[in-house]
Amino acid sequence: MPQKQIGILTAGGDAPGLNAAIRGIGKTAISHYDMQILGFQKGFRGVAQNQSLVLNGENLSGILTLGGTILGTSRDKPHKMAIGGKSMDMTDAIVETYRQLHLDCLLCLGGGGTQKNALHLKNAGLNVISLPKTIDNDVSGTEMTFGFDTALGIATEAIDRLHSTAHSHHRIIVAELMGHNAGWLTLGAGIAGGADVILIPEIPYTAESVAEAIKKRVQSGKRFSIVAVAEGALTQQQAMTVEILSNEIEVTTDKAQRKKLKSQLRQHEQVHINNTLNLSRQLEKLTGLESRTSILGHLQRGGTPSAGDRILATHLGAAAVDFINQEQYGIMVAYKNQQAVGVPLEEIAGIKKRVPPDHPWVQTARKVGTSLGD
Ligand code: F6P
Repeated sequence: MPQKQIGILTAGGDAPGLNAAIRGIGKTAISHYDMQILGFQKGFRGVAQNQSLVLNGENLSGILTLGGTILGTSRDKPHKMAIGGKSMDMTDAIVETYRQLHLDCLLCLGGGGTQKNALHLKNAGLNVISLPKTIDNDVSGTEMTFGFDTALGIATEAIDRLHSTAHSHHRIIVAELMGHNAGWLTLGAGIAGGADVILIPEIPYTAESVAEAIKKRVQSGKRFSIVAVAEGALTQQQAMTVEILSNEIEVTTDKAQRKKLKSQLRQHEQVHINNTLNLSRQLEKLTGLESRTSILGHLQRGGTPSAGDRILATHLGAAAVDFINQEQYGIMVAYKNQQAVGVPLEEIAGIKKRVPPDHPWVQTARKVGTSLGD
């Protein structure tokens, strides 16, 4: 059998564990299966512009513990890439590079957007396999994405640290966590860090309900409170507007009108920093306590991956090469019941895994007296 040639790219926001996955794929491909492996730079752009480097024992060594991605990343989509100031469909260019380099498979490491782009390239005739990476943990079809565990640890430590300063000053601290439109990171870190209030996109809140929870704490002698709020959390009023707009988009057939509604929807969904600051101000008024905000931002994505993420990324990366060896393509390598399993891209692309409002973590938070703001 001729030696297999595989390409690999990292796309979307970076996440700790990407280099561990690249290393897991590379070492398995080279040492276990005698395959050749090329790394494309800056996500799908690197394939469209044929910018790659050969991955070998030397450049794969010492990267397990490194944050970020040695290949670079971008949010470019194959069918919508900014080239010379214009948005271009680069699908044909990607197919051309793939054929020119005689690739047998393109491995796409990324989050929800990357799963959709991988499916797009599968439909364009390429053999693709994807891996689920994101600190948001919102890719469907997998119990866990790599990057999440590290971000969870960082966010938990931040909440721990905010406790002592909030306690000393008898203040409220509103800490905003990442997670896009899913609440996994905030809910997990909120429980682990003992936040008094946890606000997630899946459970819309009112400032009044949050203030009530804080006032109850004051009555029981606790003069500080930590509010962990997800960047995508919405007030009940905002959630209603989003629902109305989403329903309108569903039934609107006019293309221009749909585009307008979609942009309105994005504006209503991306309110995070303003929402966080507003909430903090409102809580001061409603409780009479001083309040401060802390936006954790990209800190949550930086630095060395946790042991859990290194294991998950290495496990899924090595398994992806097994699938290539079996010539099983068009799948995402997911983590289920401690196993790496192949899930058809059609089943997961475009579907966000959000926190079910009755999820055990939600129930646990409520049982220990945490307010969810509803
Ligand atoms: O998807 C990961 C993520 O960190 C989200 O939590 C966040 O909304 C987004 O990326 C931020 O993206 P960028 O780094 O492009 O600002």
